[in-house]
Amino acid sequence: MTHVFVFTNHKGGVGKSTSATNIAFGMVNLLRRANAANPRVLIIDTDSQGHASLVTTGKKDYGADDSLYTVLMAERQNAPQTLMNCIVQSQWDENLHVLPASPMLEGAERELMGVAGAPYRLADPLSKIANQYGAIVIDTRPSFSLLTEMGLIAATDAIIPVEPRYLETVGLTSVIQKINDIREGWRHPNLRVSGLLVTKMDTRVRGHNHLLAELKAHPVLGKLLLGVIPSNEAVSYAHRNHQSLFTYDPRSSASKAYMQVVASLVRYLSKGGE
Ligand SMILES: Nc1ncnc2c1ncn2[C@@H]1O[C@H](COP(=O)(O)OP(=O)(O)OP(=O)(O)O)[C@@H](O)[C@H]1O
Ligand SMILES: [Mg+2]
Repeated sequence: MTHVFVFTNHKGGVGKSTSATNIAFGMVNLLRRANAANPRVLIIDTDSQGHASLVTTGKKDYGADDSLYTVLMAERQNAPQTLMNCIVQSQWDENLHVLPASPMLEGAERELMGVAGAPYRLADPLSKIANQYGAIVIDTRPSFSLLTEMGLIAATDAIIPVEPRYLETVGLTSVIQKINDIREGWRHPNLRVSGLLVTKMDTRVRGHNHLLAELKAHPVLGKLLLGVIPSNEAVSYAHRNHQSLFTYDPRSSASKAYMQVVASLVRYLSKGGE
């Protein structure tokens, strides 16, 4: 079974797209280095802002014929082929593929609202082609919208990026609750919360240290801590150049921290997700 990691948090600007794109690229590199039979990784961008599509492909004006929107509007029997047709190679690596978002996704939510089976319009075709990839990564928009629900229903593993601020962790409980609702409400037992990723950590800020300590000590949340990514200006420079962080500055503190996260996820994949 191919693992599908969804990066989600209804809070905006917490590093969902940065984490999804760089971790996907890191996985390609590690899987290749480990001579994995299938080192290909697919990024699915479900956010109409298209940030993940832009940084990885250099383009964000995808539309009715070449994006996730096309897949969601396709006839059920054609959807897997449509999905394959819309996937493009990223500029970062030949083995990193992207199903791009489109500004038209904004309207798709209205168009699909109330359509029977709408929440499965990503999960169903994806399940038909997933075995072509070593792993799949889904980036979501900052809300619990229909598109985010589709991403969660298509996923096996939810990763929650979170900033080390008090309100963010209060919000965490509602994100975890939402994921549990999807698992129970949509009878999707394969979906689990696989990790919390603390992003933009600044050890000079007392509140950040305090919160991280609290998170580590928490009986449930502490066990979910997947990694801590420092606040690092290399991230925004890499974005501006449409480069991965590992290419822009492999020695940066954020690169090193993301690499550790990638290594633990690839270990998790090699153990079959245990
Ligand atoms: N570790 C980091 N250090 C410094 N800046 C960061 C870091 N991670 C992300 N950023 C910056 O924070 C901003 C938001 O990051 P990103 O777009 O990844 O968040 P997001 O959760 O996907 O946002 P949205 O909710 O709008 O989709 C970007 O400008 C990015 O460059
Ligand atoms: Mg984003």
